[in-house]
Amino acid sequence: MSTTNDSLRCDLGDLAYGTWRILDDPQPLSSEELARRFHKCLELGIDTIDTAEIYGDYAVEEAVGKALQSESGLSDKFRIVTKTGINVPSKEKHHASIPQYDATGDNLVHCAEKSLRLLGVDAIDLFLVHRPDWLTHPEDTASGLGKLLDTGKVKEVGVSNYTIYQFETLDQLMGGRLVTNQVEFGPLCMDPLCDGTFDQCLQKKVRPMAWSPLAGGSLFSDQEGAAKRLRGKLAELSPKYGDAPMDALVYAWILAVPAKPTVILGTNKIDRISSGAKGGTIQMEREDWYAIWEAAKGESVP
Ligand SMILES: NC(=O)c1ccc[n+]([C@@H]2O[C@H](COP(=O)([O-])OP(=O)(O)OC[C@H]3O[C@@H](n4cnc5c(N)ncnc54)[C@H](OP(=O)(O)O)[C@@H]3O)[C@@H](O)[C@H]2O)c1
Repeated sequence: MSTTNDSLRCDLGDLAYGTWRILDDPQPLSSEELARRFHKCLELGIDTIDTAEIYGDYAVEEAVGKALQSESGLSDKFRIVTKTGINVPSKEKHHASIPQYDATGDNLVHCAEKSLRLLGVDAIDLFLVHRPDWLTHPEDTASGLGKLLDTGKVKEVGVSNYTIYQFETLDQLMGGRLVTNQVEFGPLCMDPLCDGTFDQCLQKKVRPMAWSPLAGGSLFSDQEGAAKRLRGKLAELSPKYGDAPMDALVYAWILAVPAKPTVILGTNKIDRISSGAKGGTIQMEREDWYAIWEAAKGESVP
């Protein structure tokens, strides 16, 4: 995988396009429409697509694959990140009667092979364990990821939603080959700032990825509390940053922290991909970063 910063284990860029919600809209999404979104991303310098086996009740990877394959060479222009290891009752996972995790090596290999077929690519650029599976020994997980790397079915591996201890344990077993920890982060979820996640990423030269940067849209929909205070502060700051939209300011806020998490955009609106991408060009001032922190928390720093 190409890297833009040699000192990092792997660099996916400032922004990535997330596909969790692409099949949520009432009107069906055509491959052409999704391919249009992908082209818009490329135009804006966004060349990472984030997806997962479980998205859309196990249907999103196929939709992403069809759009990528609708045009010769399109998939080569992107880094594809996919995740696996969550089983919920469904046609796809008929053996699961309740939601559960499975990060056994055999399951990871099996699911990666399925993702390759659905995405229509020869290799997955970055393959993540979606959630820590408390029942699987990390040696087993490491063995599956190692096999996938050794056979070239995946180019890089990482994890999502891992604690620092889970990351450290698996990373040691993998000889320091984990390249990211994809975690929830934004002004309405600041845990990785204080639970050691971002410090560990800095120490290990790993660029984290930030999911649900807008708290899944509740930044805009919640009528009270933190979201309301935050919207007020973002609206106040917008003129200072060239009338930047609120989502762009949030992305700039995320990118301002030293670990510089790759922000995963979750919008289904092509215009919001464009307006949000401005966030990658904004240098947020310290005073304003802390003002956003304060608005989200409802109090000043201790
Ligand atoms: N690793 C994990 O466990 C994990 C978990 C969750 C998500 N993810 C990844 O992270 C990606 C992003 O997560 P997310 O979808 O929750 O991101 P998000 O950006 O926090 O939320 C996206 C939602 O916010 C809405 N939104 C965006 N801008 C808006 C605006 N200006 N006004 C009103 N609503 C707005 C979008 O609606 P519109 O479509 O109408 O714009 C969409 O419904 C996912 O696609 C997925 O790839 C990973």
